[in-house]
Amino acid sequence: MTQANDPAARVAALREQLDDASYRYHVLDEPNIPDAEYDRLLRALDELEAAHPELVTPDSPTQRVGALAESKFAEVRHAIPMLSLGNAFDDEEVADFVRRISEKLGRKRLTFSAEPKLDGLAISLRYEHGMFVQGATRGDGATGEDVTANLRTVKAIPLKLRGTGWPDVLEVRGEVYMPRAAFEAYNEQARLHGGKVLANPRNGAAGSLRQLDARVTAQRPLAFFAYGTGAVEGGALPDSHSGVLKQLRAWGFPVSDLSQLVQGADGLLAFYRDIGARRDGLAFDIDGVVYKLDDAEGQREMGFVSRAPRWAIAHKFPAQEQSTTLRDIEIQIGRTGAATPVARLEPVQVAGVIVTNATLHNADQIERLDARIGDTVIVRRAGDVIPEVVSVIEAQRPPGTQPWQMPTHCPVCGSDIVREEGAAAWRCSGELSCPAQRKEAIRHFVSRRAMDVDGLGEKFIEVLVDAGVVQGVADLYKLDLDLLLQLRLVTGAETPEGFLREAREHLPSGAYAKLEATVASVRGEGEEAPDTWQADLLRAGLPAFDWNRKKIATKWAENLIEALDKSRQTTLERFLFALGIDHVGESTAKALAAWFGDLQLIRGLPWPVFKRVPDVGGEVARSLGGFFAQDGNQQAIDDLLARGVQIGDTHVPSGLLREGLDLLTLLADLEIPKLTKVRAETLAAAMPNADDIVDAELETLIGVGLPKDTAAALVGWLEDDAHVQLLRRTLDTLATLDAITPQQAAIETGPLTGQTVVLTGGLEAMSRDEAGAKLEALGAKVAGSVSKKTSFVVAGAEAGSKLKKAQDLGIDVWDEAKLLAFLDQHA
Ligand code: IVH
Repeated sequence: MTQANDPAARVAALREQLDDASYRYHVLDEPNIPDAEYDRLLRALDELEAAHPELVTPDSPTQRVGALAESKFAEVRHAIPMLSLGNAFDDEEVADFVRRISEKLGRKRLTFSAEPKLDGLAISLRYEHGMFVQGATRGDGATGEDVTANLRTVKAIPLKLRGTGWPDVLEVRGEVYMPRAAFEAYNEQARLHGGKVLANPRNGAAGSLRQLDARVTAQRPLAFFAYGTGAVEGGALPDSHSGVLKQLRAWGFPVSDLSQLVQGADGLLAFYRDIGARRDGLAFDIDGVVYKLDDAEGQREMGFVSRAPRWAIAHKFPAQEQSTTLRDIEIQIGRTGAATPVARLEPVQVAGVIVTNATLHNADQIERLDARIGDTVIVRRAGDVIPEVVSVIEAQRPPGTQPWQMPTHCPVCGSDIVREEGAAAWRCSGELSCPAQRKEAIRHFVSRRAMDVDGLGEKFIEVLVDAGVVQGVADLYKLDLDLLLQLRLVTGAETPEGFLREAREHLPSGAYAKLEATVASVRGEGEEAPDTWQADLLRAGLPAFDWNRKKIATKWAENLIEALDKSRQTTLERFLFALGIDHVGESTAKALAAWFGDLQLIRGLPWPVFKRVPDVGGEVARSLGGFFAQDGNQQAIDDLLARGVQIGDTHVPSGLLREGLDLLTLLADLEIPKLTKVRAETLAAAMPNADDIVDAELETLIGVGLPKDTAAALVGWLEDDAHVQLLRRTLDTLATLDAITPQQAAIETGPLTGQTVVLTGGLEAMSRDEAGAKLEALGAKVAGSVSKKTSFVVAGAEAGSKLKKAQDLGIDVWDEAKLLAFLDQHA
């Protein structure tokens, strides 16, 4: 029997593929198939198991969906207690820890396993004969709660062990945690839909595991890493901690790759500093590092005190959450007018940084927290995310506070603050008459990924807008050297530090040293910079200072003019992004540029046409159309072009665009009520031009086959002149594009067109990705797994299951030499 008609064999093959993919993803961090492919395979397995229920086993990847638990979790007594760790808070305590071990063991050289201390929830996983049978929380260390059903949903936890040689009973201990990005994404959704926001990833992990309905847990983005073992029966583990971790990894457990072997107290402290420096960039929260004596022999000799081992210790980092007073809630106006509340705080140190402002996200969030001015709040700063207010300590609320309310008027321009229907965001309705929005628009316009004007910082944009010199982005290209210089000399560099920074950039080192000394002499010891520091310098009779000041300002102005000039030569993608159209980020700008190729075309398009671009939906399309429908925006574009902005990469529209565009598609894109694609087809077939549709009577429309309600809806829709205009302009695009779009060249073909290739194992001359890209350039489709459809497999060093499968299926296998020869031949 072949695999195709032997369900048991197919189930086994699918499971192997899925387990393999999951191991690569969660443990090796080297995904080999896209998520969509994984989901497809999982669905295939699910369907197969549904048809053959006798083939379902508890370790199948389909069994992670979660079930309903009893009303309460059962108790689990840990065969070996789950210990806690002693803490060290400074270098000296770490040195003491090392000294204690050194003295007791009578050894000078000590090797430690140093690991991150993940901030999640400790759990114990029990495997019997390689199968996951029970998972429990730590509880009080002696007794925890049975959360097996919930843990089964955590994809990083293996349901069965990989490899061989595992003991009959193996308890693996580690931390379940919620990665930061997943936590942020989860909260973003919760905020959008008014759901419950998680205070921090730790609470997220703990709360998720304590769900009685494991289907809820399955929805939570949890991860796991192993850091030790509990009971071991009928087998043995390596005799060092690092050896155990390595072994656990081979059996299928994620182990942190930040863990290292280090020597002595110096090694521990260097590790602590290194991880501390990388803390903000990590994908997960850590609250410190853990040091463990590596050799099992030494561990046994050291033993335990009360409930903590003497051979291990946690070295804590400064906490990521602190409490402080909420002094005020201010409104910040963004580029598109979004009014965002910002918390002004009593300054407080959080994880090594002084925090004075924090985000409150939006008005709904403030309402949910019931944050009031004067409250004591918890502020959290983790990773590169902006510090945020996560909760309010209501018990410490002073008397007389009031619930907060969104102001009715923009604090900058006084326009009404309005809320769009159904949206969480409030907006200043002042648009570009609001200086705050103007400043943001300019800041975005000059930013690196937009027009990339080097040297125009936020501070000077304020100066330009406040002085009324720059009203809109096009005014930037009117600036001249004298004006810049004058403005600069009047406003000056904000602080002595800013001034010196610039001086260092623009002056020879000798001149800079003198200037630095001069500035220091006027400022005095440790004194904060008074606003008058420049005047002080001048009064002190330092002509050299004044001279240097002009010189620096001149150099700065010259540089800025040069940068502006350089930015005039740009690309369509950058230009479109720079315009700051709501919902149009870099990738949308890029897609628009690729599909339409020409600013003059784009700026005249009616909004439905934008929907032809992949990934552009109705909201983005309307935003684009709305932007170009405003005279002020069209004027700004004209001004930019008149002042020398040049788009270097204008080209004819993509052939794919013209191919995908026809009457019926455009009619459907117009979003006319009740006019579905099928009905649009009926309409398009009967009435090929706009005039026919506009003039049609209800009866005629029904006569050509439209249902009555659709015909009535269309007639109603056409009563609005704006709709008639839109219909005409939209259908006109067909003719416009016909005139400028070349016939699509014959679909490109290559020597591998129609062939599906799988790459496996390691290549020497290039990475697998590179090889894949080269094969794709020759027309091949590169796939992640071997099937009957595979044309050939490229197998590098140490190729495993895929190679075997290819051999089993009798598929052609190329070695690296053959691949290189082929690529060479077709270069
Ligand atoms: S070892 C016998 N290693 O920190 C040693 N614990 O008080 C037992 N934790 O709740 C713990 N990362 O869940 C160890 N790399 C790590 C850890 C770690 C986080 C947690 C653990 C426990 C607490 C220790």
